Amino acid sequence: MKGVVLAGGLGSRLYPLTRVVNKHLLPVYNQPMVFYPLQALVNAGIREILVVTGGQGAGDFLRLLSNGKDFGLKHLNYTYQEGEGGIADALRLAEHFVDGDAMCVMLGDNIIENNICAAVETFRSQERGAHIVLKEVSDPERFGCPEIRNGKIVRIEEKPKQPKSAYAVTGIYLFDSTIFEKIKRLRPSARGELEVTDVNNMYLEEKALSYSILEGWWTDAGTFESLRRATNLVARTGANKMQVPAPELSARSRTLPSPVGA
Ligand code: G1P
Repeated sequence: MKGVVLAGGLGSRLYPLTRVVNKHLLPVYNQPMVFYPLQALVNAGIREILVVTGGQGAGDFLRLLSNGKDFGLKHLNYTYQEGEGGIADALRLAEHFVDGDAMCVMLGDNIIENNICAAVETFRSQERGAHIVLKEVSDPERFGCPEIRNGKIVRIEEKPKQPKSAYAVTGIYLFDSTIFEKIKRLRPSARGELEVTDVNNMYLEEKALSYSILEGWWTDAGTFESLRRATNLVARTGANKMQVPAPELSARSRTLPSPVGA
């Protein structure tokens, strides 16, 4: 399975912090924001990783991450998103890298307390389709929000005025390679972006979308409020913790190095 970290975008909700510095390079407690999702992928046993970035400071990612040695990697891949086309537009750029394989995507401003091993294992066992990770939040209107009936997701709405559940769709997604054909069928949303929520709804229509609920805290860090929350949470409890491995985790996962900074 390939891994993709999305670290492009204008970060306009954090102006003026992001006028010069890419959002994903801003500090979250004692590390640059992008370290956290990258470490989460590595902790899930994913070794082939693509960083999608964009904007003016794209070269900063190379200087910061180089070939991923700090994360125990031999190599990191990079690509550049032109314009601000949204998450699904950025994912288009991963097609040749993924090369028919499955991928685990993590948004560069998503930070978790624990790990994504359970979601990755679930997706591996389903072989096709997609898997999303939900988390109960107090402000679901800020996110993709699922409507759930009898334990099944029936539809996902992007930033609904009247959310149909108390869950956010986190920025942790697992997709099979049919995603690229789906992205080609997308049309821009009202905010002018190709929405990952529309992709997930396509999988839903094919009855090929599963979900799990994340354990431990989760937050984005793309607004002043959530950036402050992320910093406080990381300072208080640390991020990307690996608990005693669950029995279903492979032996390979058990030998992973400790998270950066732990
Ligand atoms: C994006 C997605 C949204 C998801 C969120 C998670 O929102 O569009 O569905 O819930 O990431 O962080 P955005 O950061 O673009 O507001």
